Amino acid sequence: MNKEQIIKKLEYGSTKNPNNRAPYAKKVIVISSGKGGVGKSTVSANLSVALAQKGYKVGLLDADIYGPSIPRLFGIENEKIKWNKNNKIVPHENFGVKVISVGFTTPSEDTPLVWRSSVAISALMQFLEDVDWGELDFLIIDMPPGTGDIQLSMAEELPLFGAILVTTPQALSCDDVSRSVMMFKDVHVNILGIIENMSYFIAPDTKIRYNIFGKNGGKNICKKYNLNFLGQIPLDINIQELSDKGEIPISLGTQSVKNYYKEIVKRVLEET
Ligand SMILES: Nc1ncnc2c1ncn2[C@@H]1O[C@H](COP(=O)(O)OP(=O)(O)O)[C@@H](O)[C@H]1O
Ligand SMILES: [Mg+2]
Repeated sequence: MNKEQIIKKLEYGSTKNPNNRAPYAKKVIVISSGKGGVGKSTVSANLSVALAQKGYKVGLLDADIYGPSIPRLFGIENEKIKWNKNNKIVPHENFGVKVISVGFTTPSEDTPLVWRSSVAISALMQFLEDVDWGELDFLIIDMPPGTGDIQLSMAEELPLFGAILVTTPQALSCDDVSRSVMMFKDVHVNILGIIENMSYFIAPDTKIRYNIFGKNGGKNICKKYNLNFLGQIPLDINIQELSDKGEIPISLGTQSVKNYYKEIVKRVLEET
């Protein structure tokens, strides 16, 4: 082993033979990106509901400790953490998906969690081990952006089935997602593919297509790193409006919005 390899090994810990903190889940999939605001949480929520609609048992863990979005997306932002008689945390359930988030532990939505990453990681380990998930076909994890402690811990503590990366088409987002690609490769996590979100905008009145954030950024990353392209989701006001109201677009959106996510889920299931 040369010096560079040794340093990498020390930094990354043991990701080749990870622990299994979620033996109740058949497949654990992380939804990740280099950047914030590209649509990870929206994708996580819609993919989870889409899988539940297909009859799978699905849990969704919100691992974005510093910016939890899952409670609002599921319309359960006022719920609080609950324990059962056996001292296990009870996940909240909506749209057929069991959901847990640090958002359920704070007194109000504007309470920031000012935690060191060691504390954030122990909270996530508790969500893996002390939640009464039951048996799951899929545990979907909505990750924070970037390539840091939480990503590494998940790769060390779970035998991840794979990672789905979300990017928008512009170069800045693609640069960031490229770093995520390299990180997941380095920590031996299989990349199931890339979703390009906010790919284009079709004006509802004129039907003219605008490539607001550029074109084909996600596809080009796939070509460069030889990854699956899982599909494009355009900027669509229906997605944004329903998401803000806690009405999951794949369940309550327009037919075209449902179709974008359905196509992607089909491709994800082909990989599983
Ligand atoms: N395809 C889309 N069309 C319109 N709005 C979207 C789309 N995808 C995400 N959004 C909106 O963009 C914002 C950021 O999305 P979010 O999923 O929270 O990103 P992230 O989890 O990566 O930070 C949210 O307000 C969401 O409703
Ligand atoms: Mg998010």
